[in-house]
Amino acid sequence: MEPILARHRATQDSLLPILHDVQAEFGHISEDAIRTIAEALNLTRAEVYGVVSFYHDFRSQPDPRPAIKICRAEACQARGIEALMPAIEAAAGARVRVETTYCLGLCSVGPAAMIGKDVHARLTEGSVGDLVNSL
Ligand code: FES
Repeated sequence: MEPILARHRATQDSLLPILHDVQAEFGHISEDAIRTIAEALNLTRAEVYGVVSFYHDFRSQPDPRPAIKICRAEACQARGIEALMPAIEAAAGARVRVETTYCLGLCSVGPAAMIGKDVHARLTEGSVGDLVNSL
């Protein structure tokens, strides 16, 4: 925690960058981390917890499963993502975490998904099944 806090100026504006770094390094944001961050930024634990719980990307418990983020924003809905969701969920089962995101910047070539930092466009039932199975 200390190296992460040292990398960021201890201001309230640094809360999100700190949370992203903690999530990236530890895979989740624990109660201890929330307490430490709150003290460092002179915030209440409730304020930090409120931000952690608001954003889907932050987890309070570790989840080692691989993840696929599915865009379910308007353009991808118009291009058929909702019809693909049963196939995605079936391929994922309990082995892969399926997360929802809203716009990956690929609106004209949706439906779109992201795995790690790689984005995938023009998803079909077959291609998204292959993606999930590759995890
Ligand atoms: S709405 Fe899905 S990528 Fe923009």
